Amino acid sequence: MSIVDLSSEINRRRTFAIISHPDAGKTTLTEKLLLYGGAIHLAGSVKSRKAQRHAVSDWMEIEKQRGISVTSSVMQFDYDGFRINILDTPGHQDFSEDTYRTLMAVDSAVMIIDVAKGVEAQTKKLFKVCKQRGIPIFTFVNKLDRFGKNPFELMEEIEKVLEIRAYPMNWPIGIDGDYKGVYNRQKAQIELFEEAGSRGQKVLPSVLGSVDDPAFAEMLGENIHKALCDDIELLDMAGDTFDLEKVAQGELTPMFFGSAMTNFGVRNFLEEFLRLAPPPADRKSSVGMVETKNEKFSAFVFKIQANMNPAHRDRLAFIRICSGKFTRGMTVVHEKSGKTLKLAQPQQFLAQDRTIIDEAFPGDIVGLFDPGVFSIGDTICEPGQSLVFEDFPVFPPEQFARVQAKDTMKRKQFVKGITQLTQEGAVQLFKQADGGMESCIIGTVGSLQFDVLEYRLKHEYGVDILMHHLPYELARWMHGTNVKPASLRGADRGMFVYDVKDRPVLLVANEWALRWVADNNPSIEFLVAPPDKQPE
Ligand code: G4P
Repeated sequence: MSIVDLSSEINRRRTFAIISHPDAGKTTLTEKLLLYGGAIHLAGSVKSRKAQRHAVSDWMEIEKQRGISVTSSVMQFDYDGFRINILDTPGHQDFSEDTYRTLMAVDSAVMIIDVAKGVEAQTKKLFKVCKQRGIPIFTFVNKLDRFGKNPFELMEEIEKVLEIRAYPMNWPIGIDGDYKGVYNRQKAQIELFEEAGSRGQKVLPSVLGSVDDPAFAEMLGENIHKALCDDIELLDMAGDTFDLEKVAQGELTPMFFGSAMTNFGVRNFLEEFLRLAPPPADRKSSVGMVETKNEKFSAFVFKIQANMNPAHRDRLAFIRICSGKFTRGMTVVHEKSGKTLKLAQPQQFLAQDRTIIDEAFPGDIVGLFDPGVFSIGDTICEPGQSLVFEDFPVFPPEQFARVQAKDTMKRKQFVKGITQLTQEGAVQLFKQADGGMESCIIGTVGSLQFDVLEYRLKHEYGVDILMHHLPYELARWMHGTNVKPASLRGADRGMFVYDVKDRPVLLVANEWALRWVADNNPSIEFLVAPPDKQPE
């Protein structure tokens, strides 16, 4: 393949995740985007999948039982010459490290905010990971068909809580949260909801026009029209100027107002997003930056999905392609083990449907059958190169439990299971100084990971476990000379443990307890990640 062809494939790709707090409208917006791409034909398809998943899915039993998505899915579709990869980030109780890791594989993120609720807890968490990676973030303020907060207030909230400047691309028209439509700042154009009450699958009719058009002034009424003109003037004078470089650095977020459910402002959002969002970026590796247009294929594993088909015990490794062209049946080297692998049955996804693919390019996500060699963060490349992509950060766990085998005779299987699941990145493992592996401490970022652990130990290793949840929410890696339980003042205010690399970690219930211990041990640093993996 020529460099030109490869570059044009790369440049038309947009790989992103949608991040939001549950109920802000992620499913609805995703579905509307898929509709525009022609990937689905009827609104409600994604939703009904959500509801009927137990009937159609062959994924983990646990997923069927709880009717939830255990891992993020990947959706690919085309729009206007672009090839779009949307990576789903699960929320609610299915929040897990997978949710965070997905963000390692995207080039930008769309943050959805409910116009009435503003920035919510989970959005904040996910946003933080995007910010640390410095990826561009686009904001979609949703549910404009409903009563909502003042847009200036929302901008201020985003700037204060998330510490990113916001540039409104359009602006809601209306007074006191009762919105009539939006004003497009680039086109100086007004778009109004024609009537309320059209919900669900239909596109809400709208009318377009200029802000100076007297007919619109009349339609809006004097008060609303004046309020809009005042707002626009204020934005133009006091607001940030649009700077694509700042967007690319993750310092400025283009902000769109709309309503996913009624389809209001969604197409405009999609088109602007595609125009402004970056194509796949070069990536840091052990031998410097790897350029996407490097003709030799390289990729990294960002997620491992076990037992998608319990009958076959298969494991699927999701890779994000970083450079070159992927072709079915190609031979690659797994850098960590040095093994050579033939990639015979690569899969791509649209929601839950899997299809075998023949080729893929940087920015694309491919699912590979895992012969048991892959771990999260692993690099694979075409022979003839030797490089390793930068390792994933450690995400500090927030929930902890002491876990042991119910039947002590099953100790061996228990240790094997825990060790393998830890390597795979399903959970994080800690030990107490005097404790062996018979009873270990498991850390997770979401409660679902405990359920997955319990299920998989039972079904894959034949071990029933006893789980005792611990009252801690924070883990801090302790950095200093000779940090020992006996020499730490206030060690009894939390739990002194070691991670898998024997680095000392303190688990505590809250910030207050942490502060007490930190104040009383001034020679020790308390870090949110291991000393060698500190966020930049
Ligand atoms: P999530 O994936 O982020 O959790 O949110 P989801 O899309 O499931 O949306 C949550 C609820 O908000 C849904 O209502 C959905 O219809 C509604 N919603 C999404 N976008 C808009 C919008 O632009 N305007 C209004 N008014 N509502 C919106 P639900 O009652 O939970 O589900 P359903 O019965 O409508 O399917």
